[in-house]
Amino acid sequence: MLALEGICLRVEEGEFVSIMGSSGSGKSTMMNILGCLDKPTSGRYLLDNIDVSKMNDNQLSEIRNKKIGFVFQSFNLLPKLTSIENVELPMIYGGVSASERRKRAIEALDIVGLTHRMTHKPNELSGGQRQRVAIARAIAGNPSIILADEPTGNLDSKSTIEIIEIFQKLNADGATIVMVTHEPDVAMYTKRIVTFKDGHLISDKPVENPMIANSLGGVVS
Ligand SMILES: Nc1ncnc2c1ncn2[C@@H]1O[C@H](COP(=O)(O)OP(=O)(O)OP(=O)(O)O)[C@@H](O)[C@H]1O
Ligand SMILES: [Mg+2]
Repeated sequence: MLALEGICLRVEEGEFVSIMGSSGSGKSTMMNILGCLDKPTSGRYLLDNIDVSKMNDNQLSEIRNKKIGFVFQSFNLLPKLTSIENVELPMIYGGVSASERRKRAIEALDIVGLTHRMTHKPNELSGGQRQRVAIARAIAGNPSIILADEPTGNLDSKSTIEIIEIFQKLNADGATIVMVTHEPDVAMYTKRIVTFKDGHLISDKPVENPMIANSLGGVVS
């Protein structure tokens, strides 16, 4: 059985797309392909006009490092490291110098509003704060694409709005974002909704007037 079949999806620079669909419909499989974590068994994936489906693992990891930031439902922070150390970690693998790593990590934590929690470890942070650290980690390498697989799946409505607000700001500043969500309310904050079913893309619609997240004001119903 194929996890995805006959999918044709084109995402332009600067879009904010949500992927919806029931469990097992192929959303994460799609994200793994978009993020160069998996290669399609057949078909092509062009990223910035380069066919990445033929690249080897080293080339793929280089592209991931340069262009893509990942955010996951379960945060995936290392428990023994502080916020700033978690944010710096991928840059160590990316060969960024220590002083530059520190500078970029502080900038990224500032964007997500967490400079006052830099030396806290994940178990000293709320779920929403952990996800903000994870977003800081994703953006510290200055990727052009952010891939988020159910980033608000474990969060309450207040934290959800805070996360969406950060994504909307990053998108306004030029990042291309693809986000999986199970919640129709959350998808209404994006600019386009793509729906999967049984490995097929069954709907692809723009959101006419995306909601604007304001963590100081409204909450998701
Ligand atoms: N590593 C794997 N090996 C084999 N089959 C897999 C693997 N991962 C996922 N699948 C299958 O591929 C299909 C799509 O799975 P995928 O994880 O992409 O779904 P999903 O839409 O992300 O679901 P969920 O909402 O539960 O996260 C499912 O039928 C699943 O069982
Ligand atoms: Mg999934």
